[in-house]
Amino acid sequence: STARRGRRCGQLKLGGVRATELVERHGSPLYVVDEEEARNRACTIREALQREAERIGTEASVYYAGKAFLCVEVARWMAEEGMSLDVASGGELAVALAAGVDPARIGFHGNNKSVAEIERAVAAGVGTIVLDSEIEIERVAEAARAAGVVQRVRLRVNSGVHASTHDFLATSHEDQKFGQPLAEAPRIVRAIAAHDALDFVGLHCHIGSQIFATDGFRESARRLLGVYRELAEIRGGAIPELNLGGGFGIAYTSAQADDAPAIETIARELADIVAETCDALGVPIPKLAFEPGRSVIGQAGVTLYTVGTTKAVALAGSDAGGDPADLGAGERLYVSVDGGMSDNARPALYGADYQVRIANRASDAEPALVRVVGKHCEAGDIVVQRDLLPGDVAPGDVLAVAATGAYCWSLSSNYNYVPRPPVVAVREGSSRVIVRGETEDELLAKSVV
Ligand code: LLP
Repeated sequence: STARRGRRCGQLKLGGVRATELVERHGSPLYVVDEEEARNRACTIREALQREAERIGTEASVYYAGKAFLCVEVARWMAEEGMSLDVASGGELAVALAAGVDPARIGFHGNNKSVAEIERAVAAGVGTIVLDSEIEIERVAEAARAAGVVQRVRLRVNSGVHASTHDFLATSHEDQKFGQPLAEAPRIVRAIAAHDALDFVGLHCHIGSQIFATDGFRESARRLLGVYRELAEIRGGAIPELNLGGGFGIAYTSAQADDAPAIETIARELADIVAETCDALGVPIPKLAFEPGRSVIGQAGVTLYTVGTTKAVALAGSDAGGDPADLGAGERLYVSVDGGMSDNARPALYGADYQVRIANRASDAEPALVRVVGKHCEAGDIVVQRDLLPGDVAPGDVLAVAATGAYCWSLSSNYNYVPRPPVVAVREGSSRVIVRGETEDELLAKSVV
């Protein structure tokens, strides 16, 4: 990760800038994004997917899923690296447009887009709108008619493939809010085709997120292509595209480093299954589309915190004694930092694991079992569940938590009236703010008397 690569003499460097210097200049806590890393990952992922698509005689569009982390600057980077952009709200659309992203390369998602959002998207000329329910057909058609355009639309379906981190199991009825069951696709596509203002370009399916096993993607592709013929007949011609969503998993800790499949592997396996399935069905290979978010930006982000207090707590229950990581100490050092679940909700929401390092100095102290916690009034306010830090970790130390680029700023909150930290981009030894932090005054100003 960025954090490990940049380590020099105990002083962590990010994008060539010392962590201590970043905190002195921009404050703590601080979200740091390594611009080169984000751009490189965007480029690598796009190229891998496009190369494999070309190998089987088609093309691929790669949409950066802005929900992972979006601001005007990052939208610009992504566009410059050849990515299209997936937006999931009017707000994300506004950011994309402000960044000058070509509207034709924007895909608009959401299970409950407002009529106003649909109208804005159509008026802006977004490339595709993903229909999530039958009700939306009429709404998008109406907006397109009013604007005098033909709107390209995809239909989001549930492939019935339920993917979780390490395995997947097939269910015929997915009890969740997104998309329509695949079996209903023909009926719904017929309803779409009845509108001159709509152009159905293909199915969309996103099987889940933080997925390590490639079988889920392959199975989903196979099932979606299974209805290709039927849909092509309804459309009266080839189905131009197949959008397989995002969800490629990343390593958050070194223990996960071997679990995440390389994008090259995913791309090759997906291209193979698409080629084989189309061949077996005797149908042309559609263009492919993907929507990675986390795998693009996750590992380009690091959060810096400053330690405020520490306290040793006796290990209880299953953690007592039997834990190889407790080093026989029988206690856990709670290290409180100046942020927490307001800047990273993922441990509280998903039990997500992260790793932590001291960023401001080297230490020869014996490692101690630590839990890094935030400053919020909630016991679940955990930043790092379990890791080892030098036992002399102390107030004033700067801690770096790696792989916080995705779904941290974007899921952040003002719990306890804690202002959001700024986001700075680092590159070639310099840093600049790309999202301003909030001030207490700004938060206070929201209270109406
Ligand atoms: N496309 C669609 C339709 C999606 O719903 C998502 C994620 C993506 C693409 C991008 O998935 P990615 O490549 O980033 O896994 N807050 C959770 C993740 C929620 C993902 C929601 N949809 C987390 O922090 O893990």
